[in-house]
Amino acid sequence: MVVHDTFQRSLRNLRISVTDRCNLRCAYCMPEEDYVWLPREQILHFEEVSALADIFMDLGVDKIRLTGGEPLLRRDLGALIRLLAAKPRLRDLAITTNGVLLAEQAGSLKEAGLGRVTVSLDTLRPDRFTALTRRANHAQVLEGIAAVHAAGFARTKLDTVVMRGVNDDELTDLLEYGQGVPAEIRFIEYMDVGGATRWSMDKVVSRAEMLEVLGRRYGRIEPVVEESTAPADRYALPDGTVFGIISSTTEPFCASCDRSRLTADGMWYLCLYAQRGIDLRGPLRQGASRDELKALIVDAWKRRADRGAEQRLRLRDRTPLVQIGRLREDPHLEMHTRGG
Ligand code: GTP
Ligand code: 5AD
Ligand code: SF4
Repeated sequence: MVVHDTFQRSLRNLRISVTDRCNLRCAYCMPEEDYVWLPREQILHFEEVSALADIFMDLGVDKIRLTGGEPLLRRDLGALIRLLAAKPRLRDLAITTNGVLLAEQAGSLKEAGLGRVTVSLDTLRPDRFTALTRRANHAQVLEGIAAVHAAGFARTKLDTVVMRGVNDDELTDLLEYGQGVPAEIRFIEYMDVGGATRWSMDKVVSRAEMLEVLGRRYGRIEPVVEESTAPADRYALPDGTVFGIISSTTEPFCASCDRSRLTADGMWYLCLYAQRGIDLRGPLRQGASRDELKALIVDAWKRRADRGAEQRLRLRDRTPLVQIGRLREDPHLEMHTRGG
């Protein structure tokens, strides 16, 4: 069964956050030092995640990405990966990680059946990394990235959130670093989502500007023509190197968005910008049948009209989506609970 929302978008891509904890404190994601963490007893067990994944797959989901917080902090993550990797309907099983624990875990993740890895890497400079993440783990992240290739993963990606005055002078260095890994680098426009309390439009480096800078350095840049619902538009340099740009802020991809997110405590969000989610843990733990849960999900998706990033684009005086007081009241509003 395939379901469509009010804009004929299907439900294919599920991002599952496995923990809201994180070992970094990236300023664009987690604005404070003290956090309201999700209560432990509310975190879904692996069997519960697996049961929900089966229901989502009944409805057309064939891509799952595990996220966090930092997903590698979830104890025995390999066991969940084994459960998910055994599902024949799943065509793509990936993870987005900050890389700090990858050097220890890449081999076992591969063995468990993980398909591919995306690592967040905003800077190649240790001092900048420490300022940005409030932790001094840069060397570990680079070791982690090297370990991904050594463990036999292919199609690895690196995600860079580009911020004016912070790391916008590193685009070419990061591109060249990616060539050596090897990994495809994706430059992400800084978004005004939960956690980004210091966001302002003048800190956003637009896709157009990034292409201009890279064009000046490398010469003609060609768009890669492909059918895709992925957030990144891909480009090729004259030497064939491919990179991506995710322009959620200045040129959103809401029109083709087939993704939704499940938080570690079983709240289902239909848009990155959604302020309210749908509780799936409650009904699951109260013994709702597979058909009942399916009906709940179908009903919500059929009514889905979210186009969060496009709506934000229409605002004239754009300030961060959520203010700090509200973030403290509801941890679900922060990116570290939503999984990016
Ligand atoms: P692929 O399957 O490799 O295409 O991965 P992905 O791009 O879906 O996953 P990744 O975790 O690497 O996401 C990259 C970035 O895209 C995120 O960190 C966000 O900044 C942005 N992004 C992801 N999902 C959404 C979304 O639903 N809406 C918007 N506006 N941006 C998103
Ligand atoms: N803007 C853009 N991307 C963000 N991420 C987190 N916060 C933001 C933001 N404000 C993304 C980063 C990170 C992933 C987990 O979430 O890409 O690598
Ligand atoms: Fe950084 Fe990811 Fe942690 Fe946010 S969740 S602070 S992006 S590592």
